[in-house]
Amino acid sequence: MTTQRLIHSFGRRRGRKLRAGRAALLDTLLPQLGIALPAGEPPVDPRTLFAIAPREVWLEIGFGGGEHLAWQAGRNPDVGLIGCEPYENGVVALLGHVRDRGLANIRIWNDDARPLLGRLAPASIARAFVLFPDPWPKARHHKRRLIQAPFLDALARVLQPGAEFRLASDHADYVEWMLERVPVHPDLTLAARFEARPDDWPETRYEAWSVGEGRRPTYFSFVRR
Ligand SMILES: C[S@@+](CC[C@H](N)C(=O)[O-])C[C@H]1O[C@@H](n2cnc3c(N)ncnc32)[C@H](O)[C@@H]1O
Repeated sequence: MTTQRLIHSFGRRRGRKLRAGRAALLDTLLPQLGIALPAGEPPVDPRTLFAIAPREVWLEIGFGGGEHLAWQAGRNPDVGLIGCEPYENGVVALLGHVRDRGLANIRIWNDDARPLLGRLAPASIARAFVLFPDPWPKARHHKRRLIQAPFLDALARVLQPGAEFRLASDHADYVEWMLERVPVHPDLTLAARFEARPDDWPETRYEAWSVGEGRRPTYFSFVRR
C-alpha cells in the first residue's frame, strides 16, 4: 500500500494553533519517539524500535488524543506500543501524556498507518486497536472508511497467529459495514461483541464525547487465525 494510491481516511493533519509549550514537544520529544523507516529497507521487527526490549508489540491506529494508548503503555510497561496518528494536535496530546507519566514504551508514527503496515515484519504485532475510526457517514465518502479489504489484508499480515484485534464504533451503519467485512476475512475471527467495554479497555476521548451525545458504542474483539 503506497501513500500515492491511498484515499485519505482521516480528516485533517492540523487543528487549532498549538500553545508554545505544546508545540515545543514536537521539537523535543517527537524526534526521540517518532519512527522513520527509510524506503527500500527490509521490513522491520518492531521490537527493535524500543529501548526496553519489549516482550511483545501492540499497535494502535488512529489514537486521537492518545488517552487509550498512554493508559495501555502505563499498565503494560513490558510491552512496546506503536501509535499511528496523522493529526498533529493528537500527537502533541500523546507526547504530553508520555512526558507527564514518564512512559518509556511508546513509539509514534505521525502519519497514515497504512504505509507503516507494509514496512513491518510479518506476524510481528501481538495486539492491534482501531477505536472509533472516522465513520464517513455520507455514501460518497464510504471509500474513505479505514475498514476495507486491503487494510484488513495489510493488518492481518502483521498480526501474529492468536493476536487480538480490538475495534469499536458508535456509528450503526459503520458497525454493519465492519460486520460485513472483518469476520469474513479469511484470517480474522470474531471472538466477542461487547455492549460495554471490558475492564482493560479504557474510554477514549471521542467515545466520551459520543456517549455524552447519547450514542451507544459497539466494541469488537477479533482474533488472528
Ligand atoms: C474519530 S477519531 C477517533 C480517535 C481516537 N481513537 C478516539 O477514539 O478518541 C479517528 C482518528 O483516526 C485517525 N485516522 C484516520 N485514518 C487514519 C490512518 N489511515 N492512519 C492513522 N490514523 C488514522 C484520525 O486522524 C483520527 O484522529
